[in-house]
This record gives sequence, structure tokens and C-alpha cells, in this order.
Amino acid sequence: MANRTLIATVADLPDHGDRIIQEVGGVEICVFNIDGEYRAIANYCVHEAGPLCEGSLTGQMCTSDEDEWHWEYERDGELIECPWHSWTFDVKTGDNVKDDRYSVPTYDVDVEDGEIFVLL
Ligand code: FES
Repeated sequence: MANRTLIATVADLPDHGDRIIQEVGGVEICVFNIDGEYRAIANYCVHEAGPLCEGSLTGQMCTSDEDEWHWEYERDGELIECPWHSWTFDVKTGDNVKDDRYSVPTYDVDVEDGEIFVLL
């Protein structure tokens, strides 16, 4: 049975991009508010063990029309870019955006009565 650990309250993370990092069971876990959904991911980059969740939320560049080199962002604000060497991961899945052989653990989150729990 999973351990259910209180990590924050909804009031602590009111806006998109708000985050809190806490150690739970010996693992540093970050909970993000992503457009009103709470997502938990390890604060650990699988490249060289950098503090992944201290990086910036970003999106993935793409072209919508290659003839005109029109650049847009996909999943803007849903990707976390490691502050050390810029490897970028999807906060929701933990997958590296360029190579899904690399991924960071994600955790289930439960919200009840304004409190946010992480399940380990
Ligand atoms: S440690 Fe994260 S990109 Fe290198």
C-alpha cells in the first residue's frame, strides 16, 4: 500500500508554475501546479543528478510552417528544463522530450480538503 504524505496545501500553490520541493521517504519530490492540476516529479535529473525542478518551466519549440520558419511552443509551461545542462522533461510523464529512453520518476497526487498528498 502506498504511503500518503502531505506535501503542501492548495493555498501554497495557487498559480500555474508554482512549485514546492520536499523530501519524502528519502526522495526529493517537487509538486507543480500545472494549469490547476498538481503533478509530482522527482527533483533529480537522470543526466548528471542535477536539481531538475529548480529549472524553468518551458515548452517545446516546433515549426508550424517550415517554409516560413514560423516557430511556436508546444506544451508551453508543461516541460521542466534542468538548470545544469538543459535536458528537458515532461512534468506529467517524466519523459525526456528528445529521447524517451530517459525519464524521471513521477508520483501520483491526491487532493483532499485543500491538502495535496503525494503517494509513494
Ligand atoms: S544534470 Fe540535468 S541536464 Fe545535466
